[in-house]
Amino acid sequence: MSKRTVTDENGTVHALEHCLGEGGQGSVWRTRNGHRVVKLCSRTRDREALRRQIAFVKRLDLRDLHVARPLALLRPPEVGYVAEFLSDMVPVRTLLAPPRGLAVERWYQDTGGLQRRLRLLAHAGEALAGLHAKGLIYGDISHDNVFISGPVEANEAWLIDLDNLRHDSDPQSALYTPGYGAPEVVSGARGPTSLSDAWAFAVLAFHALTLIHPFCGDLVTEGEPELEEEAFAARLPWVDHSSDPRNRSSHGIAREQVLGQQLAALARKTFEEGAQDILKRPGVASWVERLHLAADQTVPCATCRQTFFVTAPACPWCGIARPPLAHVKILRWEPGRGVIEAMGARALLPLAGTPVRLTRRHTRGESGLRARAVELSLELRERGVLVRQHDTPAWVTPPGRTDAAAATSVTERGRVLPLDVPERSWVVHFGPVETPHRVALISGGTR
Ligand SMILES: Nc1ncnc2c1ncn2[C@@H]1O[C@H](COP(=O)(O)OP(=O)(O)O)[C@@H](O)[C@H]1O
Ligand SMILES: [Mg+2]
Ligand SMILES: [Zn+2]
Repeated sequence: MSKRTVTDENGTVHALEHCLGEGGQGSVWRTRNGHRVVKLCSRTRDREALRRQIAFVKRLDLRDLHVARPLALLRPPEVGYVAEFLSDMVPVRTLLAPPRGLAVERWYQDTGGLQRRLRLLAHAGEALAGLHAKGLIYGDISHDNVFISGPVEANEAWLIDLDNLRHDSDPQSALYTPGYGAPEVVSGARGPTSLSDAWAFAVLAFHALTLIHPFCGDLVTEGEPELEEEAFAARLPWVDHSSDPRNRSSHGIAREQVLGQQLAALARKTFEEGAQDILKRPGVASWVERLHLAADQTVPCATCRQTFFVTAPACPWCGIARPPLAHVKILRWEPGRGVIEAMGARALLPLAGTPVRLTRRHTRGESGLRARAVELSLELRERGVLVRQHDTPAWVTPPGRTDAAAATSVTERGRVLPLDVPERSWVVHFGPVETPHRVALISGGTR
């Protein structure tokens, strides 16, 4: 255990207490006060270039993103930086395979199940899409650089290791973790782009949901070690290729059970058309949107407690029939016209055994961190649905009414909307009835 100290540009002295990791570039240390990490890039060849790169990243305004940004540069002769220590967080690697000896399905559930995986990945994608929205390329998405909440009740995700953040795409600076490199980066044809980040993210999402790497089918896992290199360069078909079955996998969780149609379609576009033609590859924002919508579509099984897509008639983990549900549909409201169904729902949320919370993503169509604020919570009760507002007022109109006179306040104590007429919906308004806004249609009673 080293008792070294380093000084940062502000003159703060950090005692390096515990080494968290050692990589190609140097080492990462937890400091004695416990709130910071120090990344020492001692083994760097071009120290000045790296110092400039870290200074560039430090100057970026990244405060609205869950990324472990550099807070201070180290004073020369050291090269490196100080960042916030992510306490209670673990690398997303912990979700990719069960520890030896544990039953897969039980472990999948104990680590949060399908719903949590979808939400964690959506949150990781938000951090990455947030960088892309600022014109930045991250460069090295991997199971070690995405950190997630340790406690299973929490769903945070952060990106660490921002050293390679850049605006431009330089083929000379291609750097990736094996298994995550986009084909054009691996081949050296192009440098990293937001779409090579999207490739790496897709690999991670597919792996965390299905528990197999999208290019490691039976051909690879049972074949010569050299085949893995072919697979990681996407020179083999991916496991679920729509016409080429050479690399099918007999492992992993059934795709319809953990991806659903929308995410399976993104995976196909990424690993099939998008393998050679990068413009056919979906961006990270598409993944984020569909991961959230997929998480919204999960319900807990009353028997085994796993979460599963509501589109299944029975719990795919244990086979028990789906519990009774109410339905929440997010739509537009136009004053005088009422609910606009023609444009389709912005989100669909089944409501079963556990409370559901509508956030600003649902109620205002926002994205990123601020979209996580809860605006309405819903809970299925014996006689209907209990709705409670949070910080922003909400109103409710009874089935069949579109006039402002029929609107009453939801309040924070909440009220129960009776669902005795299944085909008629209550409308919860997230704006005054005489303005255009989003609404939640609540109907129920159906299996
Ligand atoms: N901000 C942080 N909070 C907690 N652990 C961290 C943090 N930054 C790095 N680590 C730990 O140190 C390891 C190496 O850090 P990283 O920045 O990814 O270095 P490398 O460039 O060697 O990949 C990580 O895998 C992680 O375990
Ligand atoms: Mg790393
Ligand atoms: Zn079940």
